[in-house]
Amino acid sequence: MSEFHVTRTLPEDAMAAALRADVLHGLTSDPKTLPPKWFYDARGSELFERITELPEYYPTRAELEILAGRATEIAAALPARTLVELGSGSSEKTRHLIDALPGLRTYVPVDVSDTALEQAGRTLVAERPKLNVQALIADFTTGLTLPRSPGPRLLAFLGGTIGNLLPGERAEFLAAMRALLSPGDALLLGTDLVKAEDVLVRAYDDAAGVTAAFNKNVLNVVNRELGADFDPDAFDHVALWDATNEWIEMRLRARTAQTVKVPALDLAVHFAAGEDLRTEVSAKFRKDRVGAELAATGLELERWWTDGEERFALSLSVVR
Ligand code: SAH
Ligand code: TRP
Repeated sequence: MSEFHVTRTLPEDAMAAALRADVLHGLTSDPKTLPPKWFYDARGSELFERITELPEYYPTRAELEILAGRATEIAAALPARTLVELGSGSSEKTRHLIDALPGLRTYVPVDVSDTALEQAGRTLVAERPKLNVQALIADFTTGLTLPRSPGPRLLAFLGGTIGNLLPGERAEFLAAMRALLSPGDALLLGTDLVKAEDVLVRAYDDAAGVTAAFNKNVLNVVNRELGADFDPDAFDHVALWDATNEWIEMRLRARTAQTVKVPALDLAVHFAAGEDLRTEVSAKFRKDRVGAELAATGLELERWWTDGEERFALSLSVVR
């Protein structure tokens, strides 16, 4: 029989403390920032799912094309008995991999979004009588402890989410992932690729305004959790291509001069008219940079698969 367990490795009070620390640090920095993991409350996760269906947002479809087309090859390269997925969200694309791995016993989706994990886990076990799903509510940027489960292990990090980490955070993250792997295990990494600026910008500033609503939702999270009085309508969603860093930068731009109170932090934050709050970067990659960053943590880029239009890539590194 299949089983489904959800383990909260992040106690709710620790999460609340982390949010307070992040918001205090971010809103008193210059320029102002807020870290991306706070986008994903129940509404944020739902809005992200809507983003993945937008005509302008190609990464999900491009990665799905690779996963659907190459699942058998990936499974042959790494016949995993345990699949761990970081930032798994709906686990929608991952089904192709799960179903291509004949020896798979345990799937460990890891996410900060409890609602996304609950929904994804229930759907998966309902359809797969032999699968154990051990979901972890956890922050993958702070020391992750995985449940005991049979190897070989495939550690998947899809969706291009690695691009949401800044370069220093990325190096730290990859080193931590490397430390979780034993010989015979592998890392499967999804990276969005550098492409024409207009295509990139449209993917993060869609005509229907779903991405704008998603970006502004982080203000609702701060309002609800910390009693702040952000008016989401007083900010404009901005998506910019930074050609030097090769990343899309998401910002919220204050329409007018305003002061926002954050009672839980005893803080009043002043915004000048036109001042930006940086909410997220989404780095885009080239093959040589992916290879170099993997090599820096002792991993070798062994396999590289792209979709037909070379918009997105999956790379596989097996630990020897
Ligand atoms: N892998 C899915 C979802 C990508 S969106 C896909 O490709 O469609 C990014 C996911 O990572 C969200 O589900 C979000 O809740 C999760 N996430 C973001 N930051 C996180 C963190 N620090 N720790 C754990 N999960 C995180
Ligand atoms: N990992 C996704 C990406 O970088 C997350 C994302 C998509 C996102 N659209 C967004 C984050 C808009 C913030 C705002 O593509």
